[in-house]
Amino acid sequence: MNQKDYPNKIIQGDTLTVLKTLPSDIVDMGVTSPPYNKGENKKGWLVTNVKYSGTTDKLSEEVYQKNQIEVLNEIFRITKPGGSFFYNHKIRWEKGEMFHPIDWLRKIKWLIRQEIVWDRMIAANIRGWRFWQVEERIYWLYKPVGKSLIGEELKPKHALLTSIWRFPPERRNPHPAPFPLALPVRAIYSIMDVKKGLIIDPYCGSGTTLVAAKVLGQDSIGIEISKEYISFAQKRLHNCNNETKYVEDEKMRHVVEKTFKERKEKQEFTGRYRKGNVKIDNSQPVLFNYD
Ligand SMILES: C[S@@+](CC[C@H](N)C(=O)[O-])C[C@H]1O[C@@H](n2cnc3c(N)ncnc32)[C@H](O)[C@@H]1O
Repeated sequence: MNQKDYPNKIIQGDTLTVLKTLPSDIVDMGVTSPPYNKGENKKGWLVTNVKYSGTTDKLSEEVYQKNQIEVLNEIFRITKPGGSFFYNHKIRWEKGEMFHPIDWLRKIKWLIRQEIVWDRMIAANIRGWRFWQVEERIYWLYKPVGKSLIGEELKPKHALLTSIWRFPPERRNPHPAPFPLALPVRAIYSIMDVKKGLIIDPYCGSGTTLVAAKVLGQDSIGIEISKEYISFAQKRLHNCNNETKYVEDEKMRHVVEKTFKERKEKQEFTGRYRKGNVKIDNSQPVLFNYD
């Protein structure tokens, strides 16, 4: 395939194998949620297990993590310097042992720019081994330009959203594990703002990231193993006007009444550094009695 043919295509196949065929430095950013290697015989009391139509989600943890490292490093290669990738995953437990995404994210080429908590507010798997886990994680990964690790600042209207993203899980979508449209919209709109570019989702499932990209006026590439999900994503992309409202709802949250700079100029500091605040002396311990 010629390089100019990639935009606005879904490529069917195994993610790692397909990524290895793509040229370097072609995408501006990406968003994805990979299969979580949850084991297909697992379920909670109230829900059936997640089963994908084109593949299994059951590898040894070592093989799974090695694969994810290779996938993320291939995405690093095909991303332009200065590009970003939003990687949605979660903390899992297997027979009491915790697997945290940071276990393999520390071994990849990307810089970890931020850990975002996705507060789903509800989750299906209810057992009492731990407090009810209703959050997932989103890692903002960054490919530095030259030696500088800092990168560009977000515009205030995006940066004033917090590092806790609160969206309920998606309910309108028949795919077994979709994320809500607001999630890729927030990531893409915050990074790209008015710039146009090429967005990738290497496990695109029902096409949520591709719909977000299309409605936001971006080009996109998807990779997906299941033909069934690809046909669903194609239909969804064709009818994406039906989802414009949800994209607009998310964009409306990106507003700023006063930037940090304006607050500073007007001396509107908060907390202990407020003008005139009493200086706190912590140089000596102070003892307090209690009964
Ligand atoms: C968590 S889902 C992504 C859902 C997507 N974010 C959405 O909103 O529809 C993971 C997807 O990865 C696909 N998948 C699993 N293993 C794959 C592989 N080796 N190569 C390509 N796709 C794969 C599954 O079929 C599934 O659609």
